[in-house]
Amino acid sequence: MSHIRRLPRELAEKIAAGEVVERPASVVKELVENSIDAGASRIVIELEDGGTKSISVADDGEGIAGEDLALIFERHSTSKIKELDDLYAVKTLGFRGEALSSIAAVSRVELVSATAGREGARVEAVGGEKSEVKPEGVPVGTRISVRDLFFNTPARKKFLKKQSTELGRITDLIQNLAMAWPRIHFELSHNHRKVFLLPATEDVRERIGQFFGAELARDLIDISHGDEALGFRALLAPRQHTRANTRSQFIFVNHRYVRDSLLHGAIMQAYRGFIESGRYPVAFLFLQIDPAEVDVNVHPSKLEIRFRNSSQVYATLLSAVRAELEKTWPHTALTMDEGTLDERRARIRQKIGDFFLRSEKPTRQTGLWGPGGATSEHPQGPGFPSAGGFPAAFLPVRGVMQLHNTFLIEETDEGFRISDQHALHERVLFHEIGTKLRESSIGSQQFLSPLMMAVTEQDVLTIEEHGELFSRVGLDVKPAGPRSLAIHAVPQVLSPEETPAFIRDVLDRLEEETEEKPFDERLEELAAALACRAAVKAGQALSGPEIESIVKRASDAKVQETCPHGRPTTLYFTVAELEKRFGRK
Ligand SMILES: Nc1ncnc2c1ncn2[C@@H]1O[C@H](COP(=O)(O)OP(=O)(O)OP(=O)(O)O)[C@@H](O)[C@H]1O
Ligand SMILES: [Mg+2]
Repeated sequence: MSHIRRLPRELAEKIAAGEVVERPASVVKELVENSIDAGASRIVIELEDGGTKSISVADDGEGIAGEDLALIFERHSTSKIKELDDLYAVKTLGFRGEALSSIAAVSRVELVSATAGREGARVEAVGGEKSEVKPEGVPVGTRISVRDLFFNTPARKKFLKKQSTELGRITDLIQNLAMAWPRIHFELSHNHRKVFLLPATEDVRERIGQFFGAELARDLIDISHGDEALGFRALLAPRQHTRANTRSQFIFVNHRYVRDSLLHGAIMQAYRGFIESGRYPVAFLFLQIDPAEVDVNVHPSKLEIRFRNSSQVYATLLSAVRAELEKTWPHTALTMDEGTLDERRARIRQKIGDFFLRSEKPTRQTGLWGPGGATSEHPQGPGFPSAGGFPAAFLPVRGVMQLHNTFLIEETDEGFRISDQHALHERVLFHEIGTKLRESSIGSQQFLSPLMMAVTEQDVLTIEEHGELFSRVGLDVKPAGPRSLAIHAVPQVLSPEETPAFIRDVLDRLEEETEEKPFDERLEELAAALACRAAVKAGQALSGPEIESIVKRASDAKVQETCPHGRPTTLYFTVAELEKRFGRK
């Protein structure tokens, strides 16, 4: 008996539909992209229950002629490509002729449309079975409504997430489409409540402002380079606006939002040394390239692309962006941040070695020493290597000195140790916050008037969902509108200026989670993020009492040698090691 048989058409269609239609956001994506391809200048999207109950998209595009409606839900029916060659130079967002048939196979669809100068028409489909096409008087354009998604594929329906999560994906999607197409007016509403109202604009910067706040939009560094064949416009946030993940990098290739590790890599590489490693710059990149030079047919939802000459694209982007950043922030690259941990460690050791070798001919360098640091009155410490050219002025006894506003050096019985001031302080704060959380809650400072913060719709939902988590660390933050938060109180350890960045870090992390986590695990992550934001930074000059306080608390808490992120806080050097380097042994 044979085991292989041909699947019934209906089942085969449902399987194929699964490739394109994974969740409500994929339906919205396909419908809105069709509207854009139809030349719409106005697109209105209405959702019910996160899109699971209904999704409707109306546009004022060119419309679909009545006779074409008969074919519209058939697989592989498209007006956008005609022959194989067209596939190698796609100029529209759609080209497969699969979206509408896939959507129709797993929902109840209603479509009305009219083209200029002709009477409109209506067609419906339930689970792929379509009705007759009937005339209907409607304005030029198309309106499609999709109800009861996955009503006939219950297994798939089970995979849908909470309504707020599905809605979050849709708002992210519309945000990206709206940034790619600033000249189109977009409206999005959910359960009859307006979520986005985005009037058409000539400048994408204004759109960015609508989502990320006018202040960020105003401060963006604007770079344009190249031409239609290969060129780009990049809008880059000042470097204090870094994020904890790449979600703050928006990349568009020929008006298509994509995730592309090559382009992300080029941006990261261009920023190298200008921002702390492990952080990501906020960047909006609009790349233009000859459609024949890019393959968009490599991913079911077209989120990934392939360049024919990827090294040229990479090099063009990297060199132009890097050159501009170097002009913007001359001489400020933190070269210490480059390389792997081991390389960095080796370099720090080398620098320290060099420093002591140099100090044989002392020249007094102000600023290198923390206030309250060295004075020549201090006799040489007994524990330190016997004699040999260390000027007393350079080493306070058992004092701690700050080096390059970044490291703290301290004498020990065996030699000396050097700590990364940020990592050490972070570790101390993490320990202290943990202790307080176990014993009671963390103290907070109240604001007389709340601090406002611009966020996305999804962020507002995330805040609503995790209110308890935030209040445990003394942060009182509440939604103050569809896209803004009001911060009423912040944890005592955190300065108000750092608070928005801290909230941003935590939102990014929570929104990236793919599975549920226990409350305590989230709380610990929150404590780590708080410690990181509240800790002194590399490059920050510290006063004597500040240095003392950090070092004392570190020794009281007996903190481990790694910061909560796993980087070392402190390196140890022994007298024996030094003697070896000086050729004493
Ligand atoms: N809003 C719309 N306005 C005008 N025509 C539309 C609209 N939506 C769909 N169409 C027409 O229906 C056809 C089929 O749409 P569908 O989305 O299934 O395929 P596609 O866009 O050609 O390719 P893809 O599957 O890659 O999206 C399109 O080629 C287009 O001619
Ligand atoms: Mg399409």
